[in-house]
Amino acid sequence: MKKICIIGLGYVGLPLAHAFSKKYQVVGFDINKPRIDELSSGFDRTLELTAEEVNESIKNGMIYTTSSDDIKDCNIYIVTVPTPIDSSNRPDLTPLIKSSQTIGKVLKKDDIVIYESTVYPGVTEEVCVPELEKVSGMIFNKDFFCGYSPERINPGDKEHTVTKILKITSGSTAEIAIVVDDLYKSIIIAGTYKASSIKVAEAAKVIENTQRDVNIALINELALIFDTMNIDTNDVIEAAATKWNFIKLKPGLVGGHCIGVDPYYLTFKAEELGYKPNLILGARQINNGMGKYIAEKTIKLMIKNNKKIKDSNILVLGVTFKEDCPDLRNTKVTDIVDELNEYGVNVDIYDPWVDLTEERTHFTHKLMETNPFEGNKKYDSIIVAVAHHQFIKLTQEDYRNISEGNETIIDIKGIVKNPSWRL
Ligand SMILES: NC(=O)c1ccc[n+]([C@@H]2O[C@H](COP(=O)([O-])OP(=O)(O)OC[C@H]3O[C@@H](n4cnc5c(N)ncnc54)[C@H](O)[C@@H]3O)[C@@H](O)[C@H]2O)c1
Repeated sequence: MKKICIIGLGYVGLPLAHAFSKKYQVVGFDINKPRIDELSSGFDRTLELTAEEVNESIKNGMIYTTSSDDIKDCNIYIVTVPTPIDSSNRPDLTPLIKSSQTIGKVLKKDDIVIYESTVYPGVTEEVCVPELEKVSGMIFNKDFFCGYSPERINPGDKEHTVTKILKITSGSTAEIAIVVDDLYKSIIIAGTYKASSIKVAEAAKVIENTQRDVNIALINELALIFDTMNIDTNDVIEAAATKWNFIKLKPGLVGGHCIGVDPYYLTFKAEELGYKPNLILGARQINNGMGKYIAEKTIKLMIKNNKKIKDSNILVLGVTFKEDCPDLRNTKVTDIVDELNEYGVNVDIYDPWVDLTEERTHFTHKLMETNPFEGNKKYDSIIVAVAHHQFIKLTQEDYRNISEGNETIIDIKGIVKNPSWRL
């Protein structure tokens, strides 16, 4: 009888735990006590699960806990902890190491530990397994086994939810690969793909996001080139996309916990092995520079529109890293704000998706508590940074009502009808 423990109940772990709870006994473990308390009361602040779904998991017998005593009698451990980078863009494997140590303390003969966190090839077997062996005193592939099955969910996307996305699976032996694959097959409606090894599965995930990052960087670079030529990049993309094999992407900020972070896992390992990944690092540099470019563009447009810069008021609409989602992690909208602040302007940030209590504890930028479209303050420039559905609905008149003089609208998401400039 399988009893599954999910370690790390964030954007990835919670929906997975809920899906497994429909068929298996599940324990959800997290070190964040407020998160566990909220989930136990039926609330998911990531908004990936509704209150009904969280309560359904509880009804299914799932328990939410911070106590390692509660995970002792599980036989499958699935790790979905964060894999961030440090200030020098190097992988920070601390959560993976710590969660492996937690599991090591309760590991029993024939248990299987499956990692889902995005990593560079080799992390499961070269970093996590030694921790499991050291703490448990057991031997890998003799006493216990491992798997790796990357997650592909897209926060805020209510269509491509966990069971509807084909899942890559792998195992530390041929037999365990089948057990891991069967386990996921039992809940993933879209099916599974059994990779030939754990390293292949790890590499597959990290290149999915690296490919996207590099492709977006190309479009961003083209946008910078076309801007100097006074050509609308979006028009160029529409025209080019009439060819069957053109990859249609939009220019923009690349933030969030995945695309802007995962490539550094790959480049770190490549460089450690003596290969300099110039293309991937160049793409990172282009994407990381977009916020500064947008801020500078805003200032230039304001000067062109005869607006003073120092002490002017600029409104930034949206700060989460993507639309219709409360996730603030690694948002690059703050790059725009930070650069604007260098010019001595006052920047107001408004985002109806951000939980202000949460924001106060974790986010260094202050957010408006009221809707600027319902107030009297006038802005010299407005930057539409995130395509939340609330902003898509805004009209020219809405912008005019809160603009000082002629409106200067910077649209980086292509959702404003007649912007002063769009990326
Ligand atoms: N968010 C996404 O869209 C997405 C998509 C695919 C893959 N991933 C990958 O999945 C992994 C998890 O991402 P996420 O977005 O769910 O992160 P998250 O920050 O939303 O959640 C991680 C959870 O792990 C908990 N945690 C941290 N250390 C722990 C420990 N030692 N023991 C137990 N719990 C611990 C945290 O408290 C948090 O609740 C990352 O590797 C990420 O790259 C994320």
